[in-house]
Amino acid sequence: MATTALDAISLQRAAKDHLWMHFTRMGGYETQDVPIIVRGDGCYLEDVNGKRYLDALAGLFSVNIGYSFGDEIGQAAHEQMRELPFYTNWSYAHPRAVELAAEVASLAPGDLSRVFFCNGGSEAVDSAWKLARQYYQARGESRLKAASAEPVTRHDELAAMRTPPRRFKAIARHIAYHGTTFGALSINGIPALRGPFEPLVSEVRHVSNTNRYHRPPEETEEQFTRFLLDELEAAILALGPETVCLVHMEPVQNAGGCFTPPAGYWQGVREICTRYDVLLSADEVITGFGRVGAWFGSERFDIRPDLITSAKGLSSSYAAIGAVIATNGVMEPFLDSTSMFSHGITFGGHPVQCAIALKNIEIMKRERIVEGVRENEDAFRATLAQLLDLPIVGDLRGTGYFWALELVKDKDTRESFTDDECEWLLREYLSNALFEAGLICRADDRGDPVIQISPPLVAGQAEFDEIAGILGDVLAEAARRMRA
Ligand SMILES: Cc1ncc(COP(=O)(O)O)c(C=O)c1O
Repeated sequence: MATTALDAISLQRAAKDHLWMHFTRMGGYETQDVPIIVRGDGCYLEDVNGKRYLDALAGLFSVNIGYSFGDEIGQAAHEQMRELPFYTNWSYAHPRAVELAAEVASLAPGDLSRVFFCNGGSEAVDSAWKLARQYYQARGESRLKAASAEPVTRHDELAAMRTPPRRFKAIARHIAYHGTTFGALSINGIPALRGPFEPLVSEVRHVSNTNRYHRPPEETEEQFTRFLLDELEAAILALGPETVCLVHMEPVQNAGGCFTPPAGYWQGVREICTRYDVLLSADEVITGFGRVGAWFGSERFDIRPDLITSAKGLSSSYAAIGAVIATNGVMEPFLDSTSMFSHGITFGGHPVQCAIALKNIEIMKRERIVEGVRENEDAFRATLAQLLDLPIVGDLRGTGYFWALELVKDKDTRESFTDDECEWLLREYLSNALFEAGLICRADDRGDPVIQISPPLVAGQAEFDEIAGILGDVLAEAARRMRA
């Protein structure tokens, strides 16, 4: 039984009467039950009626160690509650924030070693953009101060003169999801999410993502990379390089369905950002902490960003914690004795959340979670690749434990479904049929229609087979019904 004072019927009633669920068509629950999940173990969840589901989405791409470490993590949280339930990171430190910052710095590639904590992914993205905006101001100020101190060198004067007046613009990619707070939403490249809240924070330009499936068939990978890099450079030039502070992109883009980078892409993006003196931020809210078979996607794809935004897997979602990880170079202008990053959040670096994240990382290391993803990714891909035999499955893409199947009307022409067909296929049929069959994954059409598969990183061959088995049956039936 679930741990609740309410019986299943009262719980259902109270959910319908009071709970406003996120990104949910609440009207649908006038006639249908709200799915109420009451417990989890390993890769599995159980609902209020005792039905079990394989969670092939790891919560929201985030429960990296799976659901079975509640005792151990709860003990760490309990001990922290007794020792110091709360203290702030505003002008103060406490041991857990210090230890977690040092731990994250040791896992992050290169000199990404300064860690600013917040409560989740959207806050991390907002914080990164604010940090980038203030970085150029702080750098300009410290140069001006340097130039006014004795003795003033020609180099100082030139540096001060070169200081741009204001850099505030950002560049991100089409269809990318980066969160829902105003800053993060403004960076989002999903028109349907932006629309209701416009005007948003100015000024963001979106460039092409790395979806190669719908590119001209004769285009080589090298040509594709060239096209993407030329477009990025043109966007910086069109905005005015002296006004751009941030390029913000995921190592593997989630929305649209696991777009991996073509060869040479990240090296080219890094080179362009360096050339135009723009900060490169890798959004690793999903790809961080093992999902792509490395502690960070930046390491796997050799991105060398100036900033990383992180959340979800940092605590395997056992706590609401996110972080911005910055290089020493980004921190440098803020080390001036009168400078500070003018930003803070009451719960950022909360000691209980930090204790949970520390325990999560300890478990990930002990259980060899990241190594396991790397060892199993080929087998996972091969298992999912069987689904390419279905008439409705056009493409399989991704890496690590992060995969997407693109659904198509015609495999030869790669023609996609119309909006009405997507509405039926994804929302009316697939989401319900998969859930009925005991599989939680996401049927999504923020770009072209895809099924997203991203299980806890403790999944093995048995779970891969179960995912492919259920998807195979349900997708075959969907194809039959689409043709009927
Ligand atoms: C890449 C990326 N960035 C940012 C976010 C926003 O994170 P949160 O929902 O924790 O605010 C998400 C959430 O899915 C994400 O996938």
